[in-house]
Amino acid sequence: MSFAVETTKLTKRYGSTPAVDQLSITVREGEVYGFLGPNGAGKTTTLRMLLGLIRPTSGSLTLFGERPRGLARVGALIEGPTFYPYLSGRTNLRVLADHAGVSRRRVDEVLELVDLTDRAAEVFRTYSLGMKQRLGLAAVLLKDPDLLILDEPTNGLDPAGMADMRQTIRRLAEDGRTVLLSSHLLAEVEQICDRVGVLHKGKLLIETTVAELTSGGGSLRVTATPADTAYTVLTAVVGADHVHADNEVFELDVPATEAARINAELVAAGVSVSELRWLQPALEDMFLQLTGVES
Ligand SMILES: Nc1ncnc2c1ncn2[C@@H]1O[C@H](COP(=O)(O)OP(=O)(O)OP(=O)(O)O)[C@@H](O)[C@H]1O
Ligand SMILES: [Mg+2]
Repeated sequence: MSFAVETTKLTKRYGSTPAVDQLSITVREGEVYGFLGPNGAGKTTTLRMLLGLIRPTSGSLTLFGERPRGLARVGALIEGPTFYPYLSGRTNLRVLADHAGVSRRRVDEVLELVDLTDRAAEVFRTYSLGMKQRLGLAAVLLKDPDLLILDEPTNGLDPAGMADMRQTIRRLAEDGRTVLLSSHLLAEVEQICDRVGVLHKGKLLIETTVAELTSGGGSLRVTATPADTAYTVLTAVVGADHVHADNEVFELDVPATEAARINAELVAAGVSVSELRWLQPALEDMFLQLTGVES
């Protein structure tokens, strides 16, 4: 197994309290890895150490099996990128490309990659936050890095902007790149990542696949009438132990993938289903489960 990122007991202290505490994570080549944790968990501090922007207090790290050197294979979006406000998106990228010795043809390629071609002629100042963020990503892609490190890439975007950004990141990963991104949103990590490391107060709580992480907790909510028939059907399908009934509202401890089957059984029994919804385990609840303490 070859790793794009490997940290061993990586630690950063500010004063006596560790911001990052003995962190050991591995990011596999070609995967999208989500670094998940609430505000102050140590996500940005870790990413900054990976990029050599700050020095670890102790511990070690490797990128592609080596001590990080020129970072030629790494592209990062950590602080909001700075661009010339009165130049167009395309011209801004051309300035950067010229500086980096990258061909101008590459500028058009990266604009296409982040889905900004149509708006590339417009002046940066007039871009929406989502477009600014995508232009930042385009700038990072100019040198065609093998590893992308993105700190909260959807932060501040509206739901449509977030969805666009997620789709773009997924697409970039499909080209064989490795992506390490941070987020405080479980749902987001679930949608785009293959594996996840959950960070809490500087410590790694768990490192696992997304499927594993979200398999525990969460429930399926069903609102159905008549309630007595619904109850009979649901207990028969998933077992009485997994059904919590409150009049016409039922909460079922089953995986989200059971929803279609349950709906079909209810409908077949003449039950009218007005709501069928997966209730995500909240990050907060998950922390509670993992640590036994409120974050
Ligand atoms: N330069 C610094 N000096 C002192 N403390 C710092 C410094 N940088 C970070 N910290 C502390 O380290 C901890 C982790 O901060 P960090 O920014 O890495 O968290 P984060 O997970 O990125 O949070 P957020 O979701 O808010 O971005 C916080 O308690 C923060 O106050
Ligand atoms: Mg941060």
